[in-house]
Amino acid sequence: MLQAHRGAVLHFLQDPDVAPAEDAWAHYPDGLLVTEGDRVHSVGPASSLLASLPADCPVRRHDNALLLPGFIDTHIHLPQMEMVGAHGEQLLEWLEKYVFPAEAKFADAAYAGAVSERFLDELLRNGTTTAMVFGSVHAVSVEVFFQACERRGLRMIAGKAMMDRHCPDTVRDSAGSAYRDSKRLIQDWHGRGRLRYAVTPRFAPTSSPEQLALAGQLLREHPGVYLQTHMSENLDEVAWVGRLFPEAPHYLGAYDAAGLLGRRSVFAHCIHLTDGEWTRLADSASNIAFCPTSNLFLGSGLFSLRCARKHGIHVGLGTDIGGGTSFSLLQTLNEAYKVLQLRGERLSPLKAFYLATLGGARTLDLEDTLGNFMPGKEADFIVVDTACTPLLAFRLQHCRDLAETLFVLSTLGDDRAIRETWSGGRRVHHRDAPATRPDS
Ligand code: GUN
Ligand code: ZN
Repeated sequence: MLQAHRGAVLHFLQDPDVAPAEDAWAHYPDGLLVTEGDRVHSVGPASSLLASLPADCPVRRHDNALLLPGFIDTHIHLPQMEMVGAHGEQLLEWLEKYVFPAEAKFADAAYAGAVSERFLDELLRNGTTTAMVFGSVHAVSVEVFFQACERRGLRMIAGKAMMDRHCPDTVRDSAGSAYRDSKRLIQDWHGRGRLRYAVTPRFAPTSSPEQLALAGQLLREHPGVYLQTHMSENLDEVAWVGRLFPEAPHYLGAYDAAGLLGRRSVFAHCIHLTDGEWTRLADSASNIAFCPTSNLFLGSGLFSLRCARKHGIHVGLGTDIGGGTSFSLLQTLNEAYKVLQLRGERLSPLKAFYLATLGGARTLDLEDTLGNFMPGKEADFIVVDTACTPLLAFRLQHCRDLAETLFVLSTLGDDRAIRETWSGGRRVHHRDAPATRPDS
């Protein structure tokens, strides 16, 4: 069954920093996106596509709107939704004081299930259709999260945090139990519908070398599963890893020794890297999640997109809720621009929206499935309201071209700009008719 969406359409085919404009993106001011079931059927100018549609094909009009591929959040924490905006600490103290107590509550399946629904509502309200998600240490947190995703038909990647040291008992596993729990979750969920599993050692300080080695064993035993962790976010953390892994040449070396690098591995932050780490990340085809709202909020430092580009490393955007302060990838782009300004680097508006869509898909090794409107890809897209606030409507009237429009959208836009979110060809969020949900 074909369905057509008419409005301005933008999607990316290449990285705008690498390919010339005409190859990097396609923009149709009066465009048509045609879906067939859960897939993209075709995309192009309305003037040429409308004539080829069957007469009974429904055509929805999206006025004052821009249709984009769904946003992709490459790093976020389910159990930290309740403590976003916790005041006053940097990473290591913040984990002890706020994160571990909040995550302890996810031992309770009912609680984790209720928060999962709220978390997914929030992702979709912000136009995020795919995310790579940290659960808590409790397998049940991921179990109920996947159940909630499956009911909604969403494409998500998640994993149970592995952490067997330097944390309270309430959020600690053991090397063996983390291996067994993760393996069971992989068997039950990896590749089920649109769901994928990520082996999830929290970060090197909270995993023993034995646990990291078992994480590597899981990757070898289950080709195709992902790896997500944190790296080189905060200088105290980097120094601590140096003491905990004295034989490793650098932070990344601790993960490398365990066999955790590769094209399905995503390392969040990567702010304080040495040349050797940049090179090794590139050689291993590993990926980075850039989390600007978190990096500013926790005072962690300034990520270099220029270095990542120089080494040809795929970078996606991460909100890193709850170190990050917004579920919105528009707001994440707003802060990304400022981080790079402080470094003397420049984030072009087109590169920014590439990062939020096709760049995220590449980071998650999902380019064949998602990230733009190539025929056959999954029909995950959003309808961005370009008149959602009086200021945005007024400001956009004064933009001269696409780049300026996108830039203002990312500076002033947030969840209010997401009018509709579609996943697998079905509408899963409508701003003006949101689903009501009992309090949890
Ligand atoms: N490093 C280890 N755990 C975390 C976490 O939960 N959030 C962030 N931002 N960094 C971490
Ligand atoms: Zn994180």
